[in-house]
Amino acid sequence: MNVLGIESSCDETAAAVYAGSAGLLGHAVHSQVADHAAYGGVVPELASRDHVRKLPGLVAGVLGDAGLGPADLDGVAWTRGPGLPGALMVGAGFARSLAWARGLPAVGVHHTQGHVQVQLFEPDPPAMPLVALLVSGGHTMLVQVADFGRYRVLGESVDDAAGEAFDKTARLLDLPYPGGPAVARLAAEGTPGAVRLPRPMTDRPGLDFSFSGLKTAVLHAVQEAGGDRQGRADIAHGFQEAIVETLAIKCRRAVRQTGSARLVVAGGVGANARLHERLSTEAEAGGFTVHYPSLELCTDNAAMIAYTGYRRLQAGYRDGLDFTVRPRWPLAGL
Ligand code: KG4
Ligand code: ZN
Repeated sequence: MNVLGIESSCDETAAAVYAGSAGLLGHAVHSQVADHAAYGGVVPELASRDHVRKLPGLVAGVLGDAGLGPADLDGVAWTRGPGLPGALMVGAGFARSLAWARGLPAVGVHHTQGHVQVQLFEPDPPAMPLVALLVSGGHTMLVQVADFGRYRVLGESVDDAAGEAFDKTARLLDLPYPGGPAVARLAAEGTPGAVRLPRPMTDRPGLDFSFSGLKTAVLHAVQEAGGDRQGRADIAHGFQEAIVETLAIKCRRAVRQTGSARLVVAGGVGANARLHERLSTEAEAGGFTVHYPSLELCTDNAAMIAYTGYRRLQAGYRDGLDFTVRPRWPLAGL
């Protein structure tokens, strides 16, 4: 069964074909980062318009790479949410229309479920149950995964996502968007311990996160340091340590609380080298293992949507022609 997956929830346009035992036949991502860079964040209307422009060519390209034509497809999956309403509508409209035109079964997919389960179709997937840490520009959450489709959200951000905190800090430090890689690079030049920022919500029980206060702390530190490059590097270092330490503390807590032996990290912030280092130390001390998807599947992609769609279609889920998108869609509601 060849399932076409389409992702358009934020600022990446993506298409992929997943074919069950034959695996992933092709996937492609177009990032809009350059279009939004001047604004320091994603502009929803620009995102929607660019999805309209890029999606048809991307789908044709992926089918070509896979050596397939539209007639070889057996199903279509798209990201139904969570995400930007207009951006989601572009992918949903395209996907549902294609399925209708070819008489194919169609299914909407939860973006976060895609992220959390992306490793299942990679070589050497971690066994379930496990705990997943999802850290991206839009989400920060810890999820207990009992099995495919069985999730319990253990904790999530009550305000900014971890990636968002990196992006906002980058802006305060005059660094380009997306902020994560830029802050990480500058942090490497910082003096350890020169700037210490709070580890929000680690001093009380629970697994929720709050990162919006950190940007205020960064703002104050920037005002104190002035424009000095070493001063800014010290702030970047202090900020990264605060985020990484906070994530590590909550991961350890989540693993211990659930008695889990495995932690999976997904989402763009999962690319952070310092986070990898810190979680390895944590895992060794706590007696659990940490698993990362390949870098290209860590960030937004359609392979995870095609795979999750495949599983859902196999399980008998179908969406009719009265399709909707769900910009806010709790994972627990699946
Ligand atoms: O998963 P993703 O590509 O897109 C979604 O938000 O869904 O995540 C993007 C986020 C951005 O906020 C970016 O600043 C952050 O991931 N990011 C990083 C790094 N690379 C990307 N944050 C910290 N360190 C990195 N190396
Ligand atoms: Zn995402």
